[in-house]
Amino acid sequence: MSALASEFDLRIPEPFSPSSLRELSRDAEGLISFLSDPLDSSFLEGCPNLRIVANYAVGFNNIDVGYALSKGIYVTNTPDVLTEATADLAFSLLLAVARRIPEAERFLREGRFEGWGANLFLGQELFGKTVGIVGMGRIGKAFARRCLAFGLKVLYTGPKPLPRADEALLNAAFLPLEELLPLSDFLSLHLPLTPESRHLLDRRRIGLMKPGSILINTSRGPIVDEEALADSLLEGRLWGAGLDVFEQEPQIHPKLLLAERTVLLPHIGSATEETRTRMAWMTVEALKETFAGRVPPFLVPPWRERVSP
Ligand code: DGY
Repeated sequence: MSALASEFDLRIPEPFSPSSLRELSRDAEGLISFLSDPLDSSFLEGCPNLRIVANYAVGFNNIDVGYALSKGIYVTNTPDVLTEATADLAFSLLLAVARRIPEAERFLREGRFEGWGANLFLGQELFGKTVGIVGMGRIGKAFARRCLAFGLKVLYTGPKPLPRADEALLNAAFLPLEELLPLSDFLSLHLPLTPESRHLLDRRRIGLMKPGSILINTSRGPIVDEEALADSLLEGRLWGAGLDVFEQEPQIHPKLLLAERTVLLPHIGSATEETRTRMAWMTVEALKETFAGRVPPFLVPPWRERVSP
């Protein structure tokens, strides 16, 4: 931030609230926004001088990009730099749920470990199982590479199959979502939140998931019908879930808090020092280029298409 402060009039809303952000943004020419800042058309309308919104996240579902585009306001995000960190966290969640790590650690800390037991915290083996990946973009592929190293069979789905060479490299096979669900011992979501992907995993599709399977979500909460997921976990139809994102962050569905073998994290997918520093520099770079009168780097797809059709 000091790099910005020396060159620009940098203002940080204090306290950090939607109304102080709105107030402070009124005269702003550039905004650095978080995924938790809903920048809808009415917000953007209230910022007549705005030239760029640099979102400090790869996902940009918090911004009305269509409106921004119509007003000539650039929108940028932070792709690539958080791919490995997010894939690491998704895979950590898979291991944590399958091997019941947080539960077992709590048990030990509570002083309940009285000696080795043959049936103590039996979990699920990863080797030889099938993982279904929904969304085989950058993060999906990075997750697939980790799965390969652990001896998992990789199935994936998305808008279209990968080129053959990529499939071969990842030893991954494409299937339509509803065929993949009943075959996957583990299901991991790696897709953006759009009107089409909201509740992609609804009650019916959760019902198609393999009994005893595990769901991992490090993408966006609203992709899953949380109430239906919680019901399935509490009924014991699904083994467990590893969730880093939620439908109404920071609220957590009360039924999810009751589900055993479910690991819940406070949206920390990209939270490594290295990644968050790189993300910050990308937002600064985008702002600087815009203010220098150039097209900024890291434009989100609808903007990229406009700039270089
Ligand atoms: C993102 O970038 O979209 C993550 O969810 C937060 O880092």
